Amino acid sequence: MSEHEFGVGSAHAKAILFGEHAVVYGAPAVAIPVPQLRVSVLARCAPERSNGVRVTDAGAGVPVPDRWSRTGADDPALRELVTNFFVATETRSRAIDLTVDCRIPPGRGLGSSAACARAVVYALGDLFDRPVDARLTFDLVQTAERVAHGSPSGVDTVATGSAVPIWFQGGVAKELVMDLDGVFVIADSGVSSATSVAVSELRRRFDGDPAAKAGFLERSARITAAAVEDLAHARVGAVGHRMTENQALLGEFGLGIAETDRLVTAAVAVGCAGAKLSGGGLGGCVVALADVAHPVEAVETALRVAGAVATWTVPADLSAR
Ligand code: MEV
Repeated sequence: MSEHEFGVGSAHAKAILFGEHAVVYGAPAVAIPVPQLRVSVLARCAPERSNGVRVTDAGAGVPVPDRWSRTGADDPALRELVTNFFVATETRSRAIDLTVDCRIPPGRGLGSSAACARAVVYALGDLFDRPVDARLTFDLVQTAERVAHGSPSGVDTVATGSAVPIWFQGGVAKELVMDLDGVFVIADSGVSSATSVAVSELRRRFDGDPAAKAGFLERSARITAAAVEDLAHARVGAVGHRMTENQALLGEFGLGIAETDRLVTAAVAVGCAGAKLSGGGLGGCVVALADVAHPVEAVETALRVAGAVATWTVPADLSAR
């Protein structure tokens, strides 16, 4: 195995349909890829330095994750990831230059940090001609996510590398059958929020109220299990209803804000089967399910009128065949 002049890697965004937050405590979650929102990374060895990681923003997309550009070479999550890559693949440690072109808005629950870390792992594997299988990729991305977020469930880590919807629980992912006659519309509220803050605020609440925690996990798991059944039977209306149920649960636990609540209300008012916030909450994106009777353009327009700064669509028949 020899070193190449450069290595490239890419990954994509994700949206969580069911089970965010509960998944951190071992309950199941369902996530879909958002393939059109991508990050690409170009990796090279930096002969002028002996070690460290330098990140350059390719500048064409949205900025690289804040903490990467802010702290540059000293970003702990990135340093940990690169160091662990060298150890795990028995590669001699080197100084690395990364050029990152990230088109995934950060802080919107779209998995930008996990996708960036995944793209770095692939780029390093390519640069040093090292095979990085799914298990090693998961472990490496999780080391970076752990430094950045504390206790990531791993759902973002897997979903940002999966071309198909996934069911995820306790570190185990399965491809999910999804053949709905509809389209998921994702709308960005424009409000940035850190997953780590949402996760730690909820944890604080749970620590003070174990019964509330048990209730949240039980209800989330029940909604997700029912949704998986509905997905398997292509019941669009029922899937949408479960989304709205999950939204109510997340709202009860303080994870909604006025901007995302407004988007959910607008999506349902325009005829979507259901809608909910997606990811950590306290800002970020909502995901709505439009059935065939409701033109996607009308849904996107309604969401923009309600304050969305951007929308993206993902077909709801994305299963592996
Ligand atoms: C973030 O996209 C999803 C959360 O459940 C956190 C996690 O799973 O690590 C809020």
